[in-house]
Amino acid sequence: MLLRELNRGKCKTYLVACERDRVAVLIDPVRGYIERYLAMLAYLQLKLQAVIDTHTHADHRTACFELGDLTGATVLMHRNAPAPRVDRHVSDGDTLPLGALTLRFIATPGHTPDGISIVVNGTVFTGDTLMIRGTGRADFAGGDAAAQYDSIIGKLFALPDSTVVLPAHDYRGNTASTIGEERRLNPRLAGKTRDEYVALMAALPLPLPERIQEVLQPNQSALEDDALSFPSLAQLNEVRQIPPAALSEMLAHQPPPLVIDVREESEFRGNLGHVPGARLIPLRTLASQAPGLDAGKEDRIVVVCRSGVRSSTAAAILTSLGFEDVSNLKGGMLAWHDASLPLEY
Ligand SMILES: [Fe+2]
Repeated sequence: MLLRELNRGKCKTYLVACERDRVAVLIDPVRGYIERYLAMLAYLQLKLQAVIDTHTHADHRTACFELGDLTGATVLMHRNAPAPRVDRHVSDGDTLPLGALTLRFIATPGHTPDGISIVVNGTVFTGDTLMIRGTGRADFAGGDAAAQYDSIIGKLFALPDSTVVLPAHDYRGNTASTIGEERRLNPRLAGKTRDEYVALMAALPLPLPERIQEVLQPNQSALEDDALSFPSLAQLNEVRQIPPAALSEMLAHQPPPLVIDVREESEFRGNLGHVPGARLIPLRTLASQAPGLDAGKEDRIVVVCRSGVRSSTAAAILTSLGFEDVSNLKGGMLAWHDASLPLEY
């Protein structure tokens, strides 16, 4: 296995390759470094097979979508990832052959709902779930400290003690650790119960990252910032979230709400299907198409996407355009599926 850490900064990108077959993956590539990555791959004579984000990042723009376009590499993320341009969604236990190597994905939600860790050859890439002597924050973008504790204690700490830990970030100049070291020495986890961990995380005095929505929303939607004016955090926080059962109930009564699906057409007609009667208006065209909607400003509208993230953006946009009764399907089509509600394809 050939392994390189590429950015030399706070955000870490790793190159993992099989030397026998000259195939590589990039883990958590950052958009400002695309030329460096391509030069590195060419220099090492490696073909880029896949690009992987360990989760939807809030602190840097991902290079995955652009690298996928430029090289044809498969864009791979967890099933819960909100972005439309993911070629392969993985779940806990799935694997990816990389020449003579096998990457195994562990679902490690907590920092975000779409967090994965990647195990290969005695090494685990832990994203922002487990860091060296620390853990990723769990206070925004769907974070859940209890889930994070379960991911770390139940899944990551079940790996052999000698497993090398490589996180997506480090702010203190550490470069590597092991599962055994973190189990013994990580101050947030060693000797802590789940409740103690949740209390500790809730008490961390962390300011929200600057420009967080300007990074998150393009990463979540795979849209450029100039394609759309993204809503502010305050506007997003005001979006009313309804569970699948509530939408199903609304659809059973007259008059039904207008259901707007803001995914891409390939997703609308893809294997997740769509809510019966839903109208397709991809997020990138929503602002231009909304004035032509044959809905009154006071009509009930429910917006839908894959995981409920892009549609929250859509709901905030529609609200800002003057539509008064807009709700978001919480958890999107993934939650609609989990609730076994009717589908159209
Ligand atoms: Fe993160």
